[in-house]
Amino acid sequence: MNKKTYRVAAIGGDGIGVEVVDACLDVLEALAARDGGFAFDVESFDWGTERYRTTGAFMPEDGADQLRAFDAILFGAVGAPDVPDHLTLWGLRLAICQPLDQYANVRPTRILPGIRSPLSGVGSGDLDWVIVRENSEGEYAGQGGRSHPGLPIEVATDVSIFTRTGIERIMRFAFKLAQSRPRKLLTVVTKSNAQRHGMVLWDQIAAEIAQEFPDVTWDKMLVDAMTVRMTMNPASLDTIVATNLHADILSDLAAALSGSIGIAPTANLNPERQTPSMFEPIHGSAFDITGKGVANPVATFWTAAMMLDHLDEHKAADRLMQAVETVTADTALHTPDLGGKATTRMVTEAVIAAIRGRND
Ligand code: IPM
Ligand code: MG
Repeated sequence: MNKKTYRVAAIGGDGIGVEVVDACLDVLEALAARDGGFAFDVESFDWGTERYRTTGAFMPEDGADQLRAFDAILFGAVGAPDVPDHLTLWGLRLAICQPLDQYANVRPTRILPGIRSPLSGVGSGDLDWVIVRENSEGEYAGQGGRSHPGLPIEVATDVSIFTRTGIERIMRFAFKLAQSRPRKLLTVVTKSNAQRHGMVLWDQIAAEIAQEFPDVTWDKMLVDAMTVRMTMNPASLDTIVATNLHADILSDLAAALSGSIGIAPTANLNPERQTPSMFEPIHGSAFDITGKGVANPVATFWTAAMMLDHLDEHKAADRLMQAVETVTADTALHTPDLGGKATTRMVTEAVIAAIRGRND
């Protein structure tokens, strides 16, 4: 049999990003060995804040172009206490997502076995969402500026950009994703009462695209009311689509409601596969626990399962998620973010053992 080899770019970045990406590469290795049908050719990049301190740039100028040669990108985190967050974000993460046009950011949330939601009475069947975040424009479009620094008339603007192309493609992606899930249910989030241009265009285009998906039930929510619905009636939601900033905020809430930000994954997709997509945990660099060996690697394993799905290795993706869920079910293997005492290594070894042990 001809073995497929996937070229993966690994960018650990900063803080615990490096630790969880390392753990994940071990897990990917075990998965490939267990499957036998594919292999990974991994190249690691030392891009991140350390590089910025020594060279003045988080990655080489042609960094995004270098990544085009890969099938996927595994990303850890970027951010350090002594460097302004907007520099790290625009210097690395957005400097990859935007040129590679990874416009669909997908954030699944579930309560995994063994993990408790802070919402009382809410179990694993009651919260199973996918948030689709528009990842190329909106509030993160990068338009704006500052004038008259230091003067009383100093002014700063951040202009949100909403284009028909941008909204149509994310809406179509979200409707398609909703259609692929059993409940075929989509909630479109905006703030179209206060933001009367871009957000009204969202509502209008949602209604247009909905015509292409007659079997999908959809509704609309204002983002503020959405936080209440997520908390009070989580079972009423399934697939959710929102702007870059709104979905950023909602996905932190979603992660907290599902038990820990340490398990929440994300995929920055170019659905047309013209460029490689990027897979990362959403927890960030977490300098408070960096170097202690206790970072929860589950978010990174889950995002690796999303990567395998994107590469059409569905069997391996399922095997990985099954292994992760076997491990989360055992509270002795919970890291401190979940109230346990396990280390990154213990969780990683247990996931690898579960991958090797499954007879499917
Ligand atoms: C996320 C993060 C980032 C974002 C931060 C690190 C800038 O919160 O991926 O949700 O806002 O996009
Ligand atoms: Mg966020």
